[in-house]
Amino acid sequence: GGRVPFIAGNWKMNLDHLQAIAFVQKLAWSLKDATHDYSATEVVVFPPFTDLRSVQTLISADKLELGFGAQDVSEHESGAYTGEISAAFLKALETPYVIVGHSERRTLHHETDEQLAAKVAAAVKHGIVPVICVGETAEDLEKHGPSAVPVAQLRAALAQAADAKDIVVAYEPVWAIGSGQAATPEQAEQVAAQLRIVLSEVLGEDVAQATRVLYGGSVKAANIAGFMRQPNVDGALVGGASLDIAEFSGIAQFL
Ligand code: G3H
Repeated sequence: GGRVPFIAGNWKMNLDHLQAIAFVQKLAWSLKDATHDYSATEVVVFPPFTDLRSVQTLISADKLELGFGAQDVSEHESGAYTGEISAAFLKALETPYVIVGHSERRTLHHETDEQLAAKVAAAVKHGIVPVICVGETAEDLEKHGPSAVPVAQLRAALAQAADAKDIVVAYEPVWAIGSGQAATPEQAEQVAAQLRIVLSEVLGEDVAQATRVLYGGSVKAANIAGFMRQPNVDGALVGGASLDIAEFSGIAQFL
C-alpha cells in the first residue's frame, strides 16, 4: 500500500532518436487526453542510449509527465571498456533510472550475477535508481519451482548494495517475455511477495515496503488490471506493447 504505481516501457533495440522524439511527444499527448488521472502513476520510457539525450531534452523542455531511463549500464567506473556507458555518463544526462540484469543481457550477453551486483552498486553510487530484473526460465520453473531462482538472483544482485534505499525490482519470467503467454496475476503475486521478503532481509523493512516490485512478460492493456490488483505488484515492465502508443497508454490506465 502507498507505493506509486510504476509503468515502464522497455523499447529494447527499437526507435532511433528522431523516431523517439515523435513517439514521446505522441505518448505524452495520449496520456494527457486520457480520462484516467495519471498524477499518481509514474510512466517511464527506456529508449536506446543514442536516444537518451533527445528524450531528456524533450521531457524537460516541454515539462512532460514522463520519466525515462537507460536499458543498461557498465559495472566499471571509467577507462578502457570500448562500447560501454558509465553510470557517471547517465548521471550527467540526469537519467533517473536504469534497467539492469534484463534476461536478454543475461542470456544473449552472458552477464553474470557478479556483474549485475557491480552494476547495481555503480547505479546506486551515482544516484540512479536501478530497475533490477529477475526471473526464471521454463526449465528453472520445472526444476526449482516458481520463486527459487528469482529470489537467488535478487539476493545476488544486492550483494554490493546493502545500503541501497531507492531501487525498483522487476519480476520477469523468461518464459513469459515476448511469448504472448503472461504469468497469471496469482503467479506474479506469489513471486513478488517472496521478493519483498528478500528486500526486507537485505535492505530492511522500511525500504522493502517502499520498493516498487513490477511484473513483466507479455503485459498488454487487456491483462494489466489483474496484475495491478495484486498487493505486492506495483506496476509493469512492458516490452512489445510499449512500442504501441494506444496499447501503452492503455496499460498506464490500468484502473
Ligand atoms: O523488458 C520487458 C520484458 O522483456 C517484457 O517484454 O512485454 O514484450 O513480453 P514483452
